[in-house]
Amino acid sequence: MNEKDLVTRALATALNGQLALEEIKNLLENPKSAVHGDVAFPAFFLAKILRKAPNIIASELAAKITADDFEKIEVVGPYINFFMNKKKVSAKVLQQILSQGTHFGDFNEGDGRNIVIDMSSPNIAKPFSIGHLRSTVIGDALANIFAKLDYNPVRINHLGDWGKQFGMLITAYKKWGKKEAVKAHPIDELLKLYVRINAEAKVNPTLDEEAREWFLKLERGDQETYKLWQWFRDESLIEFNRLYKQLDVSFDSINGEAFYNDKMAEVVDILESKGLLKVSKGATIVDLEKYDLNPALIKKADGATLYITRDLAAALFRKRKYDFAKCVYVVGQEQASHFKQLKAVLKEMGYSWADDVYHVPFGLVTKDGKKLSTRKGNVILLEATLHEADKRALKQIDEKKTNLSNKEQVAHAVGTGAVKFFDLKTDRMNGYDFNLEAMVSFEGETGPYVQYTHARSMSILRKADFKVESLATYALKDAESWEIIKLLQAFPQIVQRSADRFEPSIIAKYTLQLSQSFNKYYAHVRILDENEEKSARLTLVYAVATVLKEALRILGVDAPDEM
Ligand code: ARG
Repeated sequence: MNEKDLVTRALATALNGQLALEEIKNLLENPKSAVHGDVAFPAFFLAKILRKAPNIIASELAAKITADDFEKIEVVGPYINFFMNKKKVSAKVLQQILSQGTHFGDFNEGDGRNIVIDMSSPNIAKPFSIGHLRSTVIGDALANIFAKLDYNPVRINHLGDWGKQFGMLITAYKKWGKKEAVKAHPIDELLKLYVRINAEAKVNPTLDEEAREWFLKLERGDQETYKLWQWFRDESLIEFNRLYKQLDVSFDSINGEAFYNDKMAEVVDILESKGLLKVSKGATIVDLEKYDLNPALIKKADGATLYITRDLAAALFRKRKYDFAKCVYVVGQEQASHFKQLKAVLKEMGYSWADDVYHVPFGLVTKDGKKLSTRKGNVILLEATLHEADKRALKQIDEKKTNLSNKEQVAHAVGTGAVKFFDLKTDRMNGYDFNLEAMVSFEGETGPYVQYTHARSMSILRKADFKVESLATYALKDAESWEIIKLLQAFPQIVQRSADRFEPSIIAKYTLQLSQSFNKYYAHVRILDENEEKSARLTLVYAVATVLKEALRILGVDAPDEM
């Protein structure tokens, strides 16, 4: 029970059924200033029902409340202000964290059911973009969040490894490609070929025709073409895997679009048998007018399949294989209509589980205020950038002159963690400007700031030779610790809310708040002073360290004990 529940219960008893529990709870407010207590009830909402002045109602109600959950209850005009019993609440929260450790905030909503998370999903033979980085980092955090709710996350990298662009690429390689060059710098070289063929196709349409033919050959399983495709794919994956290793993210499946090549015929058959297909200008479509959407293009006039055809096959395959409770696509906002169409077609096919399909979009990243564009050369080279982040973190660690034995490892946790954290603290629908300097700083709303707070609390515990077992008292009643206690108590709801909204930023912002409160505490309170509350204070420090570390783990950010 949190404080609002306790107040609700007390008010319900005093009101004797005149308002339902839910109604009372919805009226409760969190006062902005601590002088007005922890929870406030505005009594003027009852004036109509009870036909009395609000301040009289407030006084009468307050007089009826007897509960040792509260330190005091004050009436100020039409408001009843509740001050929680700090000793009782702090003892309860700290004991809970001590006994549950990193399991504090776990729920069993998922009951072990699968949640499929379609994440990262870069395109073969093209650079891994910052959008793919966002998808990777947000997707991984969501997987961890849902795991905490007892779902079993299935991380799927739906590689963009199929489609007419591979026809383009193969055409270009046949014309101008050099094996050695591709071997040396696969993505650079393949991208050059791709850019060149697209430019030349604008003036020479026969190239387009050639590309279409190559792709059809590929779709029909022509051996030579397939081998070439396989090679491009393998080389690209080697590069992507280096990045995944840097980011410490792994997948349960890397079945991308190509995997569905032999699974699309079934989808087309089902659509056909349900009478959903129409022919329009030679192409096969599903009309989605009643959803106010453009038609879903299932097959082109030449029989070639499309992105959405593969996504339909993938959705069916995933439902069969994983019987998911939810299937989540972490993909940029610019693909919103694609996913609306996907969901609508699944609905038209009569699958009730279409309601369990969610597009989790995110906003664009800019660099120096400008949109990124591979063609205009305004790009972020992610691998180099993450190395640079680690390097800058190392420099800051060196400046502190600590004698860390594992400082390279710590620098990686801080540097790469900083880039991840910066992304995750942003409301996902908002974009942000990519600024490495700001990300890696130890000050401000950054990952390193939170990591540093965690390391500071660990260092206090080391100094005090703190042991979990050796504690006797937990209760704290001072105003300084109270702010922290309230934040700690809120952690489970924070986790729940971030899952409900598919929003890791709620957790990231929470770690910043908890860090700020803790650092204020550290500046004002002599934690290690010998008196009867010392062990309770140390327990508080331990609880902060535990929750910060767990929250960062959920975000995919490591929290070193020393830095
Ligand atoms: N490869 C696509 C892109 O880079 C993203 C794929 C997202 N996942 C999906 N199932 N459509 O734009």
